[in-house]
Amino acid sequence: YERKDGRPTKQRLLVVANRLPVSAVRRGEDSWSLEISAGGLVSALLGVKEFEAKWIGWAGVNVPDEIGQRALTKALAEKRCIPVFLDEEIVHQYYNGYCNNILWPLFHYLGLPQEDRLATTRSFQSQFDAYKKANQMFADVVNQHYEEGDVVWCHDYHLMFLPKCLKEYNSTMKVGWFLHTPFPSSEIHRTLPSRSELLRSVLAADLVGFHTYDYARHFVSACTRILGLEGTPEGVEDQGKLTRVAAFPIGIDSDRFIRALELPKVQDHIRELKERFAGRKVMLGVDRLDMIKGIPQKILAFEKFLEENPSWHDKVVLLQIAVPTRTDVPEYQKLTSQVHEIVGRINGRFGTLTAVPIHHLATDVVTTTAQDRSLDFHALCALYAVTDVALVTSLRDGMNLVSYEFVACQDSKKGVLILSEFAGAAQSLGAGAILVNPWNITEVASSIGYALNMPADEREKRHRHNFMHVTTHTAQDWAETFVSELNDTIVEAQLRMRQ
Ligand code: G6P
Repeated sequence: YERKDGRPTKQRLLVVANRLPVSAVRRGEDSWSLEISAGGLVSALLGVKEFEAKWIGWAGVNVPDEIGQRALTKALAEKRCIPVFLDEEIVHQYYNGYCNNILWPLFHYLGLPQEDRLATTRSFQSQFDAYKKANQMFADVVNQHYEEGDVVWCHDYHLMFLPKCLKEYNSTMKVGWFLHTPFPSSEIHRTLPSRSELLRSVLAADLVGFHTYDYARHFVSACTRILGLEGTPEGVEDQGKLTRVAAFPIGIDSDRFIRALELPKVQDHIRELKERFAGRKVMLGVDRLDMIKGIPQKILAFEKFLEENPSWHDKVVLLQIAVPTRTDVPEYQKLTSQVHEIVGRINGRFGTLTAVPIHHLATDVVTTTAQDRSLDFHALCALYAVTDVALVTSLRDGMNLVSYEFVACQDSKKGVLILSEFAGAAQSLGAGAILVNPWNITEVASSIGYALNMPADEREKRHRHNFMHVTTHTAQDWAETFVSELNDTIVEAQLRMRQ
């Protein structure tokens, strides 16, 4: 790639996601403090050396005044981030409403909201309008910052309308779109009133990516069955225009976890945790407090295990870290009280004066960052390292990187991973993990027993498989593969046009 002055330069990548990888806290009229939150996507792109990446997204805060907006824009620029300002009403309708109350549950097979159908149908349209409006606002910002030759990589279910808006601005823009959630069976997708409009907007992208081959297949069938388009081995064809569709399973920056385990701070945490839980096996769950994570089902399975195995009562502890999320959406509020109630009941039933079986969000071992959004990285690594059995029992999950992080931190302990067959990660870690149907509480309970009693040689063998996968299929590979595939797709399309 060449700059205007002829010198070679790195290819510019505009990463567009609903949320910027920072948490912003206002300190004064024109001052902000920013903290980088190193989620999967950020660490993936930090490791990619070939591109010069910039982020475009919502900073997660309402900034109604111009002074505040200018100051935040300036502060974010130093972190290579560009904000999209969304007002409270849009956030309510687009983010809480259409994204998190409609698309998120639907894509995870929980269906459309069912209470008060009439009200839902009426507000559905206004939420979809807000969704389109918000996507257009993202497109406007991308368009202001776009330079010829840039790759624009749109992320997730929040921005399904974006590829279309971008191509309307500039049909030669290189646009990729990646979905971080499952894409459901076409029979589920077709219940969505705006099903066709969303599919057509996504198809405006040059490359469409999913975590697994199944999600890609579901998307192609939705396009063939709902839109009547033609599916090909490469993707979806519409009047001679091909949108390439493929699977790109994400990974983690495994070295970051492995290196962290050597740090004195992490070693201290590990020592403390070992002392604290001496004589007991440690089971761990780390989830955002979301209905798709199957937290109540997991806890009920643990209860069943305790019920059936009295000899384990004071020999095992379940640490369930549940990170609050989307707390303005009523479904999430209901879930929080449900989980508290179940944990309280089980601890009352099986706890003793000296020990309780479930530690729910043990904030004394895990400190949270400013906005309670993510766990302290070092404390989390220590928790992963001391765990004997990790329980990832999502009812549906795009990939689930907690399972990858656990494996990365287990090279000395070689603990067991119990993993839902409905998480994308089951396709890559299935041979090493114990796969379960999270709805089948009896099966999960007996898998807990099996995992706790597993002989060392079987643990070693299973761990080897998973560790190899997690350390070789990294987030950096994922990002590089997607972007180079996008570049290739465009070159191929140009060649086809010339023929
Ligand atoms: C999932 C989504 C992400 C989202 C994250 C946290 O992983 O795929 O796009 O950012 O959840 O949710 P939140 O609504 O807090 O951004």
